[in-house]
Amino acid sequence: MPDREFFDLRTALDHLERHGELAQVEGEVDWNLELGILARDVQSRKGPALLFSNLKDYNRPGARCSSLATGLLGSTRRLSLMLGFEDEQPNRTLMEYVLERNRRFIAPEIVASGPVHENVVTGKDIDLKELPVPQWHRLDGGRYVGTMGCVVTKDPETRRTNVGVYRSMIADRDKMSCLLVRSQGWGGHFSGYEARGEPMPTAWVIGWDPIMDFVASTPHPVDVCEYDVMGGYRGRPVPLVKCKTVPLEVPASAEIVIEGLISPDPSTYLLEGPFAEFTQYLSDLPTKRPVVQVTAITHRNQPVFRGTLAGVESAYYGAIHRAGAGWNVLRAAGIPGILEVYIEPITNGTTVIVQIKKQYEGQPKQIAAALWGSNAGQYAFKRVIVVDDDIDPADHDAVEWAINYRVDPGSDDVAMFRGMAGSPLDPAIPLELRNIAELGTGLWNRVVIDATRTWRFQRRPEWNNEKFPPVSRNRPEDTALIRSRWERYRIKNWRPESV
Ligand SMILES: Cc1cc2nc3c(=O)[nH]c(=O)nc-3n(C[C@H](O)[C@H](O)[C@H](O)COP(=O)(O)O)c2cc1C
Repeated sequence: MPDREFFDLRTALDHLERHGELAQVEGEVDWNLELGILARDVQSRKGPALLFSNLKDYNRPGARCSSLATGLLGSTRRLSLMLGFEDEQPNRTLMEYVLERNRRFIAPEIVASGPVHENVVTGKDIDLKELPVPQWHRLDGGRYVGTMGCVVTKDPETRRTNVGVYRSMIADRDKMSCLLVRSQGWGGHFSGYEARGEPMPTAWVIGWDPIMDFVASTPHPVDVCEYDVMGGYRGRPVPLVKCKTVPLEVPASAEIVIEGLISPDPSTYLLEGPFAEFTQYLSDLPTKRPVVQVTAITHRNQPVFRGTLAGVESAYYGAIHRAGAGWNVLRAAGIPGILEVYIEPITNGTTVIVQIKKQYEGQPKQIAAALWGSNAGQYAFKRVIVVDDDIDPADHDAVEWAINYRVDPGSDDVAMFRGMAGSPLDPAIPLELRNIAELGTGLWNRVVIDATRTWRFQRRPEWNNEKFPPVSRNRPEDTALIRSRWERYRIKNWRPESV
């Protein structure tokens, strides 16, 4: 596929509109709950991306920001368009594309200036509530400003940049509290700054090319800079400008950037959470967490705020990029016979199904161990299901059939790896095992289900010298014969669509 120019948020919205994938909401909508409820309802009916331009309290002349966009990646078609395809692509095509692009690195370039600096707000003028930040859900602990915010940090030693998507809540007019997990990219950086007794500089990029949201929420290896990956996706360097108050760089045509410092001193921590999370449950209890002390807000003229309901957009694109990350891990581990890595969107990557041409017994456990041993598995792969090459991993019935009749739950077909680093947001896990202040991360018991036919059984002459009995499905040649005789059977009152 040819490389396309970078979008900025505005051109991305225009592109979606031209393809019938964006609806403008012209009537007044309240940022306080109404927007979130409306967006969730539209998404549950498989509706388009939404651009709100008449938000209560923000629709007066002179408002700093009066519009908000959501849902840009909320379907496979929209994801395909945003990646640069002409129309919706099948899972396999998207996956192959992502696999190829994740290995192409093009370093960013620093440019002298950009529209993101058309307005610079500092000091006493900073007020996060000048942005139309929604109260997305009635049970959220506050107004979540960082939902699709891409957070830029640098390793204090190597100066390598990380860009990740992390949540943050308005705690005061110039403060955001956030869920900072030590095993994530910025979490490692934060530990480095803590060791030096220094605050960590951060920049939150809110609204740019959706490729940034996609790449930043992908678990790339820690030595990979996400700006290099974004360059690889578009075949050209990301144009960056230097931030005004922190030593970081951000896309020159971003809509809004929030710059700030996070102190490692726990006495500065403020309440964060709970949040209606991607699990479709409330995340956890309100907890004192690290705080971004905002040092500047920079933005374009008439900026568009970008936000999302957790788990709604990321279910679609996470299915692709988490499967892609898993595929890369298995390839790097040198495991043979991998045919497909598949994630059902509803699981957000919590379950991964790997289809293999089995080469040896025990291979499914090797696969699970590789996935669990990689940083791609931090929030993913609680359940690893491995199936044979005759099972389509995207066919729910086929996978269920394999789990039911190729698995003996009391045998080695099911194995658990207990107490591994995992998601702190899983409501099935007791709160004390996802106390990130004490543990640094959440703990997961992970399970692998080997739903391949075992090689441990004896071959049986009655079963064509195989170890498993033959399936009772029609043989293709028998089906063909029956169908060639169809008219002869004179079956009354029913005719299949094809004979
Ligand atoms: C909308 C959204 C919100 C997220 N919020 C958080 C968060 O608050 N904390 C976190 O650790 N990960 C969060 N994630 C997941 C990370 O973005 C993801 O694990 C990503 O790989 C992190 O990048 P990193 O590997 O560079 O740390 C979120 C993802 C999405 C899509």
